[in-house]
Amino acid sequence: MAIDTAFLDELRQRTSLTSLFSRRNKLVRSGRHWKACCPFHGEKTPSLYIYDDHYHCFGCGAHGDAISYVMQSEGSGFREAVERLASEAGMEVPADDPQQVEKARVRQTLYDVMDEVQAIYRHRLYQPEGRAGLEYLQKRGLTEETLERFGLGWSGDGRFLLKALEGKNITAETLVQVGLMRTDDAGRPRGELFFNRVTFPIRDRKGRIISFGGRVLGDGQPKYLNGPETDIFSKRRTLFNIDQARQAIHKGAKAVVVEGYMDVIAMVQAGFGGAVAPLGTALGDAQLELLWRMTDTPIICFDGDGAGQRAALRSCEVALPLLKVGRSLHFCRLEGGDDPDSLIRREGKEGMEARLSSARPMEVELFSLLTAQERDPTPERRAALRKKLYELSQMIPDKLLATEYSSTLNEMFFARYRRQKPGRGGYGVSGASTVPVIPVSGVRTVAEGSGERLNILTAILLQYPEILPGIDREYNALSLPEPLSSIRTALLSWADECTGALTAESCQAWMAEHGLAEAVRQVCSSPMPRQIRMEDGDDRMREAMKLWWHFYALENLRALQENVEEEVRRTVDILFRSSSESDEATRRTLLVAMQARQNVLFALRRGENPALEEKES
Ligand code: UTP
Ligand code: MN
Repeated sequence: MAIDTAFLDELRQRTSLTSLFSRRNKLVRSGRHWKACCPFHGEKTPSLYIYDDHYHCFGCGAHGDAISYVMQSEGSGFREAVERLASEAGMEVPADDPQQVEKARVRQTLYDVMDEVQAIYRHRLYQPEGRAGLEYLQKRGLTEETLERFGLGWSGDGRFLLKALEGKNITAETLVQVGLMRTDDAGRPRGELFFNRVTFPIRDRKGRIISFGGRVLGDGQPKYLNGPETDIFSKRRTLFNIDQARQAIHKGAKAVVVEGYMDVIAMVQAGFGGAVAPLGTALGDAQLELLWRMTDTPIICFDGDGAGQRAALRSCEVALPLLKVGRSLHFCRLEGGDDPDSLIRREGKEGMEARLSSARPMEVELFSLLTAQERDPTPERRAALRKKLYELSQMIPDKLLATEYSSTLNEMFFARYRRQKPGRGGYGVSGASTVPVIPVSGVRTVAEGSGERLNILTAILLQYPEILPGIDREYNALSLPEPLSSIRTALLSWADECTGALTAESCQAWMAEHGLAEAVRQVCSSPMPRQIRMEDGDDRMREAMKLWWHFYALENLRALQENVEEEVRRTVDILFRSSSESDEATRRTLLVAMQARQNVLFALRRGENPALEEKES
């Protein structure tokens, strides 16, 4: 019987974990906390940390509170452990709350009722009345072993459940309570839930039947009917096949979420024991938590139709606020209206295996779902898209992870949509997106340990932000430490939202608004190799560009070389196509940017250091 949780909380609070550990283990200070050699696995250097209310061993993963420590170290049961700690703490374990006792008893009766009903449904499947159902399931390729394993049954014609339960002391009211009978307007039991349906028992984590789903044989509606919410069944808190999947996952199977019951069954029959499905609703937060208790990275494999894609996007939105380091989702795409069941029937286990092993990380799927319809977005759409990507990444509570997500999403954005900022003195012209997109891997991230240069790269941009549209992709791909990374995020969203010219003043105001004034001041106070003296126009921009590319090249010469090669091709392409008067400005900026990069590259090849030399001259 459960012990009152308030009592347990009090007991945990009154018990000192450190004094408990110190009886058998030598404790050493570690900052605010203590650590010890883990008593649960042999070790010579301490890797078990003791916090205020719990301990964690980074060696073997042992984890728990005072009660579990007693249980683990003495092999005692929960109640026994609580009683021992209570007597030491001078507390008395409360007698079982009669209300709780009664509640547990009622729940137990409901589970028992489910077992009785299950036995009847099961039996009926093999009677003449269940013949059509059995044949249907066989025709769908289910083996006898699978029918047994999932306990599939036949509901009967919806009139005889009570009669079949005769002598078991089960009333119509109880059947209403478990959701297997409906009620009329006055709340009186009236009619069974299922009428000529194949039945799928739904089990909880512990394997207890908590509800049923039922499928019609033909094309009747609704295709599937699920039991309603009851005292023992909460749709949003469970997953179909969670009990068996848990064990399979524990033994190394992949956790895969599919849409339907039949998908789960087909998956398990094909050897993918870790398959689960939500119960006729969208995958929710409680279900994701359940999954993450079993594995770091469950795979979502929804149907290959529009609904499946919408469901996938929705799952991302539910998952983002729950993400932490070491907790993610992968997505697996099926094509052409397939679901796992149909795919396995056509291509077998191997077909499914191939799809699962090409599952993609959530950020990649998210990006692809959001941009599927965006072939050639207008500047407004681009800005909206960037904003959406940024907002999505900001749904992640862990700041560091949110920053990583944001920069990865941005990187994909730049790889897919080359810069296009007409009228901004930037480097794109409309139509530039017909130029082949360079894959993200073309831009290498800069190694760590080059803090000063990264600082300078950022400082140049803060002072000459007009060059931003020309270097945004490379800038975005840099791996930056804080606060440079936050400054970059702010800079890029400023450039997106800014409607006027990109001036240093406007940039500074934005930074201040976003709480980055101090960080910006520090970054800009580090010595710059040289100031750019030119007042205005192309020269100033050319100089700023040259400076930026120079420091970028010092980090990553190879990436600059690739960039220049790619840019030559693109520039030529655009120059050939642009003819109207209004393209003149664009042509000029393109050439200026091109020349700046080439100069840097040639100088470096000759072994010169353009930025510094000019300072000396
Ligand atoms: P699907 O229609 O994709 O299921 O619905 P399926 O497993 O492929 O069905 P088959 O192959 O035709 O037998 C996916 C899930 O959505 C819920 C069920 O949980 C189903 O398994 N659903 C579907 C309902 O709750 N009601 C419905 O009418 C249809
Ligand atoms: Mn199906």
